[in-house]
Amino acid sequence: MKEKIIISPSILSADFANLERDIKAVENAGADWIHIDVMDGHFVPNITIGVPVVKSIKKVTNLPLDVHLMIENPQIYIEPFAKVGADILTFHYEAVEKANVSDIIEQIHSFGIKAGLSIKPKTKPEEILEFLKDLDMVLIMTVEPGFGGQKFIPDCAEKITILKQEAPENLIIQVDGGINDQTAKICTSYGANSLVAGNYIYKSENIKQAIKSLR
Ligand code: DX5
Ligand code: ZN
Repeated sequence: MKEKIIISPSILSADFANLERDIKAVENAGADWIHIDVMDGHFVPNITIGVPVVKSIKKVTNLPLDVHLMIENPQIYIEPFAKVGADILTFHYEAVEKANVSDIIEQIHSFGIKAGLSIKPKTKPEEILEFLKDLDMVLIMTVEPGFGGQKFIPDCAEKITILKQEAPENLIIQVDGGINDQTAKICTSYGANSLVAGNYIYKSENIKQAIKSLR
């Protein structure tokens, strides 16, 4: 049987003045999760969504909220995001001290939600192998984090192979950045089983068809 691919549309490409409409659109079109990009203007150059917006989003969807923290000091924000309804909290390896990674994963789990760890394009997958056993998800960035609509970096996808070899069976391997029907195939062939897509889904004429084409 074909492995189930978790599709997580990134609302960074939605119309923020019509967020409820655009979230319902992907929910009705078969999305599995809602990907929320939190940016602080420090870890990445852009500023996007914070805790109050996630609280409002929770009220308008039943889909799990897949919250991608592109922020410095993520440990300070785990409790607030967990309390407003994040179901998966992913933080960046580059944003913390390596010595604190395990504690942060534990902190996320203490709220009964899933923990993800993300790496930027220049970070080697070998750096995070020791954490795989404690994680629910690894997020491999296939563009430099910060903006939607960038071009997929093929070298990043190759990292999946290394992670896949070491990954426990239930680890979710997610990719994010420049995902479309073509690049999705590359990633899933290496073993990714969760795809984030912003522009490809939201700028398509037919959202349902776009989501289907990623599976
Ligand atoms: C980029 C974000 C992505 C972004 C992806 O830093 O993490 O989630 O929305 O957008 P696309 O799919 O347009 O590359
Ligand atoms: Zn993201």
